[in-house]
Amino acid sequence: MTALPEARTLAWNAVMSASPGPLDLVVEASRIDGAVPHALRGGRLLSNGPGWTHIGGRLAHPFDGHGYVRAFEFQADGSLRLRARFVRTPAYVSEAAAQRLTHRGLGTNVGDHFWQNLFPRTGPRNVANTTIVRWNGRLLAGWEGGAPYGVDADSLETLGEETFSGALAGQATLAHFKHDVALGRLVSCSVAMGPATTLTFREFDAGGRLVHTRVAKLPSTLFAHDFVLTPNWYVLASNPLTLKWGTLAKSMLGGATLMDAIASDGSAPGAVYLVPRTSDAPVRTVALPGRAFVVHYGNAFERDGAVHLDACLFHDFAFGAEFGFQGPHAPLDPRLPDARAPQRLFRIEVPANATSATWRQLAPHGVDFPRVHPDHEGRPTPVLFGATRADTRFSDPFDSVLRVDLTDFGRQPKVWTPGGGAFVGEPIFVPSPERDEAGHVLVVVSDGAVGRSTLVVLDAAQVEAGPVAQVPLPLLPYAFHGAWDRPN
Ligand SMILES: [Fe+2]
Repeated sequence: MTALPEARTLAWNAVMSASPGPLDLVVEASRIDGAVPHALRGGRLLSNGPGWTHIGGRLAHPFDGHGYVRAFEFQADGSLRLRARFVRTPAYVSEAAAQRLTHRGLGTNVGDHFWQNLFPRTGPRNVANTTIVRWNGRLLAGWEGGAPYGVDADSLETLGEETFSGALAGQATLAHFKHDVALGRLVSCSVAMGPATTLTFREFDAGGRLVHTRVAKLPSTLFAHDFVLTPNWYVLASNPLTLKWGTLAKSMLGGATLMDAIASDGSAPGAVYLVPRTSDAPVRTVALPGRAFVVHYGNAFERDGAVHLDACLFHDFAFGAEFGFQGPHAPLDPRLPDARAPQRLFRIEVPANATSATWRQLAPHGVDFPRVHPDHEGRPTPVLFGATRADTRFSDPFDSVLRVDLTDFGRQPKVWTPGGGAFVGEPIFVPSPERDEAGHVLVVVSDGAVGRSTLVVLDAAQVEAGPVAQVPLPLLPYAFHGAWDRPN
């Protein structure tokens, strides 16, 4: 094995392991390079991700780092206020007191010996570290496999598990929620995995009341992390999964992690499921032109009975080495994700009543963290932003922002690369009230080599032109997902 490219590895680990703890700081307008656009002032970028991963001498898998919610508030005077708080889940409180891992995670065990992992054995701990949305007057910090945690929208203090009056209690709920803006609903998806898979979609009104439930039984073992909806359908890829039963048993006995026990089924053909949203009609299984494994969806919409779906799609997917993770005793290796072919952005079209779909690739780049106009979920939308890599052979760790014109696939995607070895997170689109394809894109760029993050504001119509404003910040841990929020 060749020596690690030390500088990049160190920089990546610095970003992924940054743990500044609770923050409360103001960056005055005079310290901001450029000026915060007036359209953004009074609003804030919210984000969530693992904010503590080196725990008691072990490196937790990034999926198992404790949820760390950030609010970047654009003030009226052009300054920026940053606040950050851990989500005080029971696991966080326990591990903060013990200063070591006390609960098993999805990809991290408490200790190297199986007997250290037998107790506690109460399932992977919910660290509320993946998504952040505002609903019913509070923020929800989502996690893969449990209920989200409520966070006070102003103070960011943890309110406790949010089960929506019990609807999500005990449910393995996806971290990703969807919005139906026209109906004013937040939509969740819970998964019961096995030889067959049961998905339960729940729709909540603005007051957090459960107003619609749809249970769908699917004929395969399916991996889901995200989904999309349209007025008439819930849509997700079949993502065929193999459960390694022997490893699962070993995991139950503390000798492996839960993530060790799952694998994608590379032999299965690609398909998408269309679940009728408002009726109990059968689920449609639609064949894709090739193998497909989708982690994140950009959007979906209906036109003349056809369903159009934008997805970041792997043809071949393997679990493991996420973010370069190689166990609790080694640094993350940012070269490991390069070993697999990246996910590409595809537009999938399912004609009305069809049993097979067509697709086309929308960009030559590896793309993840796809984001569109936040009010357009389930409807046509003109532009998609994503995180990408300037070198189109690879995807993560990302170093660039991508803009894809969805109104004209012949147009070349636009790319902005900050350079200098900095890493780029999920770009959040803040659309202009006047023009759906214009506005601003917010992205946190982190340079681990110099220990600095920058909140960058781009012009959404021309991201390639570079920053409109750059807000200097301390080094922040890499976030997974965020949202634009304009408090009432
Ligand atoms: Fe995600």
